[in-house]
Amino acid sequence: MLIALGVSGGIAAYKACEIVRGLDRAGSAVQVILTRNAERFVTPLTLQTLSRRKVLLDPFDLSSPETVRHIDLAREIAALVVAPATANVLAKLARGIADDLLSTFYLAVTAPVVVAPAMNARMWLHPATQESLATLRARGVAVVDPAVGWLAEGESGPGRLAEPDAIVAAALAAARRSRELEGKTLVVTAGPTREPVDPVRFLSNRSSGRMGYALAAAAARRGARVVLVSGPVDLPPPFGVEVVRVRTAEEMRVAVHEARAGAHALLMAAAVADFAARPAESKIKKSGRGISLALEPTRDILAEVGRDKGDLLLVGFAAETEDVVERARGKLRSKSLDFVVANEVSADGKGIESERNAVTILDRDGGAVEVPEASKAEVAERILDRVFGAEARP
Ligand SMILES: Cc1cc2nc3c(=O)[nH]c(=O)nc-3n(C[C@H](O)[C@H](O)[C@H](O)COP(=O)(O)O)c2cc1C
Repeated sequence: MLIALGVSGGIAAYKACEIVRGLDRAGSAVQVILTRNAERFVTPLTLQTLSRRKVLLDPFDLSSPETVRHIDLAREIAALVVAPATANVLAKLARGIADDLLSTFYLAVTAPVVVAPAMNARMWLHPATQESLATLRARGVAVVDPAVGWLAEGESGPGRLAEPDAIVAAALAAARRSRELEGKTLVVTAGPTREPVDPVRFLSNRSSGRMGYALAAAAARRGARVVLVSGPVDLPPPFGVEVVRVRTAEEMRVAVHEARAGAHALLMAAAVADFAARPAESKIKKSGRGISLALEPTRDILAEVGRDKGDLLLVGFAAETEDVVERARGKLRSKSLDFVVANEVSADGKGIESERNAVTILDRDGGAVEVPEASKAEVAERILDRVFGAEARP
């Protein structure tokens, strides 16, 4: 297993030596990447000796084949850990600025990323730094929060690098996650469906698809082959995920049945329409009078799959406005699900259409795990931890 350790230019850079030793003791090879400013705080020679691997340094020459190989390296690593991460490096990673080797490397990494910030308390508390962290967290980057204590500048506050042991543990956990679903195929559904009323109108719902897309991206980061059956959404396809685009509930049903063959798990995060109209062949004309639409129930994809699921691990989502857990439990039982992820959608700013979510994951044995409000990327990680983690099923 190979872990990349990015070291940036803060006073805590010397602690990178302890992190290299910890990862080495745990049996992981370590590829150190130093920023130019980090070289002022810790010598490449020390890190090279401890890691027994050539340390990668700036400046780098974009025309050299060596540099291209460094980017290739991004494909091989099980995790990237940046420790210490300066305010500067956090801002660059958050914005996608790629003006040195570490920040360029980060953009090429698809494995899990961990950052361990360290800086003066005022720099840490600055809204610019907190915004960078929020952006990175929302992207699924794990943050090992700094400790509160005496800082090098002779004042106390938050900003001291977390203990090297904690950073090593976070790096190893991230690296293990990157292999966890290797060899497995997951089908994830996302987004709303559109049920046509006539050639120009449709019935739909407020689902943004973000929860399903975050799940698909997180599963791909853990090494799974992911087929994402997506309703119409305004989101870019996650890296390394096969996207099957559908519009109606019926198209989604057909695509799910097709994709589930040979799959290990189906995670139904889509908000599939429960009712569909019989569409008019030509545009319904405005007449000044009201019209009535006859709606028929759509076929229930989860219930159909649940009836003949075999070894397929089945995860449903229940977006409810009242009696959330109660109703989700009912869905779990009636559709033979292994897990149901329940969320309340009436609260402002989370759940449907939003960047954030708070959910309860229920299992067949009556267990319930609460995931407090977080970005959908973080919630997706917790869902995968619960569904595929060691403690998931007896
Ligand atoms: C003595 C000294 C200590 C510093 N310590 C930190 C630090 O702990 N955290 C931080 O974010 N910046 C720190 N800085 C500022 C960074 O070195 C500066 O922002 C630099 O541009 C970071 O470069 P890099 O992120 O490319 O490594 C320190 C600067 C000096 C001169």
